[in-house]
Amino acid sequence: STTKIGVIIGSLRKESFNRQLAKAVTKLLPSHFQTEEIAIGDLPLYNQDLDTALPASVVTFKQQVESVDGLLFFTPEYNRSYSGVLKNALDWGSRPWGKSSWPGTPAGIMGASPGQVGTALAQEHLRMVLSALDVPVLPQPSIFVQYTGGLVDAEGKITNEASAKFIQGFVDRYVAWVEKFPPPTP
Ligand code: FNR
Repeated sequence: STTKIGVIIGSLRKESFNRQLAKAVTKLLPSHFQTEEIAIGDLPLYNQDLDTALPASVVTFKQQVESVDGLLFFTPEYNRSYSGVLKNALDWGSRPWGKSSWPGTPAGIMGASPGQVGTALAQEHLRMVLSALDVPVLPQPSIFVQYTGGLVDAEGKITNEASAKFIQGFVDRYVAWVEKFPPPTP
C-alpha cells in the first residue's frame, strides 16, 4: 500500500534552495512513497482569538497534516533559527488545545543553506519544537546541505555524485523510520 508523505517547506521564496532540494528528495523516495506538499504560505498569522473559529485555510492545513503517514520538513536558516512562517504553521497545527494535528506522525528534517553548516541551528530549533509537539523525528543522520549553484538541476536531479549518495543515505533511513510507525487512524 501507499505511504503518504507531507512535505513542508519553510521558505516561501520562489527559487528557494529548500524547495529545489525537496523536489530532488521526492525523486529519491521509493515508488510506494507518495509525496504532497503541505503549503504554509496562505496561512494567516496565528491569532489565539481564532482558535474557536478556525479560518478555512487552517482547517484544510490541519486535515492535510492529519492525513499523511509521515512528514518531511525542509527548513531554511534565518538568523540562526528556522523561519517564522514555519513556526506559524507549527503553531496553527497545534491548536485548538487538545486538537493538535501533529502528535505521532514520524518526521524527518533537512535543510539547505549557502553556508557551510547552514541550517544546523535551524534544524536543532525545529527538532526541539517538534519534540514538544510529540512528533517523532528521525534522530540521525543529520543532513546540512550546503547549496551551491546548480546542485539540483531543472529536472530535480542532484548533480553532485557525493551529495546525491549522502542524501540517498538519509532518505533510506527516513523511509525505514516512517515504516516503524503505524499509519494514522482515520
Ligand atoms: C538568511 N540566511 C542565513 N543562512 C544561514 O546559513 N544562517 C543564517 O543564520 C541565515 N540568516 C538569514 C536571515 C534571513 C532573514 C535571510 C533572508 C537569510 C541565508 C539563507 O540561508 C538563504 O537566504 C537561503 O537561500 C534561504 O533558503 P531558501 O529560501 O533558498 O530555501
